[in-house]
Parts: sequence; structure tokens; C-alpha cells
Amino acid sequence: MLILGIESTCDETGAAVVENGERILSNIVASSADLHRQYGGVFPELACRRHIDALEPVLQEALAKAQVAPSQIDGIAVAQGPGLVGALLIGMNAAKGLSIAWNCPLIGVNHVEAHLYAALMGKDKPQFPALGIVLSGGHTLLVKMVDIGVYEPIATTVDDAIGEAFDKVATLLGLSYPGGPEIERIAKGGDPNRFPFKGGFVKKSPLDFSFSGLKTSVLYAVKGQNGAGKDAPLDEQTKADTAASFQEAAFRDVVEKGKKAIKLFSCRSIVFGGGVCSNQRLKELFAEEFPEIPLFWPEKELTLDNGAMIGGLGYHKLLRKPEGDPLDLEVLTRIPLA
Ligand code: KG4
Ligand code: ZN
Repeated sequence: MLILGIESTCDETGAAVVENGERILSNIVASSADLHRQYGGVFPELACRRHIDALEPVLQEALAKAQVAPSQIDGIAVAQGPGLVGALLIGMNAAKGLSIAWNCPLIGVNHVEAHLYAALMGKDKPQFPALGIVLSGGHTLLVKMVDIGVYEPIATTVDDAIGEAFDKVATLLGLSYPGGPEIERIAKGGDPNRFPFKGGFVKKSPLDFSFSGLKTSVLYAVKGQNGAGKDAPLDEQTKADTAASFQEAAFRDVVEKGKKAIKLFSCRSIVFGGGVCSNQRLKELFAEEFPEIPLFWPEKELTLDNGAMIGGLGYHKLLRKPEGDPLDLEVLTRIPLA
């Protein structure tokens, strides 16, 4: 079965053709990150305009690269949310139009669920229950994965998402958007023990995340650094040490909460999803701390937002509901995973 997957939740326009939920025949992504750089974060209106311009060529390229004709497509999967409402509408309306024109079912897919599914594509499936860890620009989640499509929530963030914290700390350090890869790059030359940063503790729900305190600690450390005055530039070593100490504190927090969740929910493997999971230090830490647990990381081209993960998960949704979703399906800026 061939599914066309469409992604437009934030600043990436993606289209992909996926066979039977596993084999990726094409996966085309156009990013508008360059437009947002000067604002230090995603500028929604600009993201929407870029989706309008990019979607048709991205779709054409996905079909051409897969060497697939519209008549061969069995379903159109689209990210229904969560995401920016205007951005979501562009992908959704295109998907509805194609569903009518090509006479095949429309399939709404949860973008966050698709991030977790991305780690399983083309691989032997994990032993369930698995601990799902989503670390992205919009989400920080721990879920118990009972099976593909069956989840129980464990923890979320009470304030910033982890990727958002990376992006904000990067801005504080004068690095460009998206900040995560920049923090990782300069942290390689930094001392992770120079600043005693810590992830937040949420008293009422100890597995939940909070990154606002960590972000404020970084702000104070940065502003307190330069004896020459609070606006004097930081030297490169101090920047690198700050990035390394922040990164280490954020990831150690995920490791510690992950350990508790594994025990509490008897999880037998860990499945990772979301843009922050491309970070090598994160992978090293989990490999060191969980030597006996199988770890499922998404392949590089499936880590950031993309259409293949939408098309892959869409296949499973279509198997469960062959008629697909109604054509008045609405986009949702927030959708719980469970
Ligand atoms: O999953 P994603 O593409 O979009 C959302 O669904 O949010 O994640 C984007 C986030 C951004 O915050 C970006 O800074 C972060 O992932 N990110 C990273 C790295 N690469 C991307 N964070 C840390 N280290 C990285 N190497
Ligand atoms: Zn995403």
C-alpha cells in the first residue's frame, strides 16, 4: 500500500511516499528556518507563506522521486496537529483536495505520535511496553507505549519544551536559530561541569519537566559573567562552557526521569522522537546509562519534521480505519497523545 504523507505543522514543508508503513520511496523536506533566523524563533505568518509556496513543488518532487503516479496512491496522510494553526491548514487543505481529486482516503495523523513512529520505521519492532520519549521544539513527553497507537501519558513539561529551551539559551549566547544544533556544536569545546545547572523539579508530579528555572540560571550566569558590564560580550570559552553545562543539565534531567519511568512502568525498551534526538551527547548519555535496554533512535533524515513519518504512521491508521477520516476533518493546535 502506498501512502503520501504531508507535513506542515511548523517550519518544515514535507511530502513523502511510503510503502506499507516502512519503506520510504521519497522524503522531500523544504525548511523555512532561514526566514526565522533574524527573529530568534519561528515567525508563524512567514512560515505559512513559505508552506504555500513550497508545498506544490515538494509534492511534485516526492511523487517524481518515488516514481509513483497519483493513481497508485492508496491514501493521503496529513499532520492534523499539534502545530501552528495557519501552517496546519495549508497541509490539511492540500490533503483534502488531493483526496477528492485522486479518490482515495484522507488520514489525519498526530505529529507527535509520528515522531515516535519514525524511530521504528524499517526496523524490528521493540518489545512493548516501551518508554516513548519525545524531545522536540514543541514537546517534552514521556509516554508508555503499549503498542503502536496505544499510549498512556506519563509526563510532560509544565513550561517550556526542551527544544524551545535550547533555542532560547542559544539566543542568550548570541547563536542563530535553530539553536539546538548550535548549542551542541559549541558545547563540544566546553566544560559541562563549569556551571552547576540543574533541571527543574515539579513537586506535585516529580516525573514532569520544567525548563524555565534552568533557562533563568543560564541567564543569570551569562549576565553575571562579564565584570565589564552586563552587555559586554562573553568570551568564546565561557560561551562554550555555558552551552555544555546547560546541555548536560537538561539531558541528565531526561535521563533521571527516564530511569524512574522505566522502573515504575516496567518498560522494556526506549523509543525516541523529535528534533532534539539528533543530539549526539544525548545518545551517548542514554547508551551509558541504559546499557541493557534496547534504544530506538530515528534515522537522521527522520529526526526533524518530515512527511515520511506521517505517511508511515498513516498506513497503520488506514489499516484500522479503511474508509479514512471525513473530509471536514479539522486541524487541532493541541492533541493529546493518549
Ligand atoms: O521535532 P522538531 O523538528 O520540531 C518540532 O516538532 O518541534 O524539533 C525542532 C527542535 C528545535 O527546538 C531545535 O533547536 C531542536 O529540535 N534541535 C536540537 C538539535 N537539533 C535540533 N536540539 C539539541 N541538539 C540538536 N542537535
Ligand atoms: Zn516535530
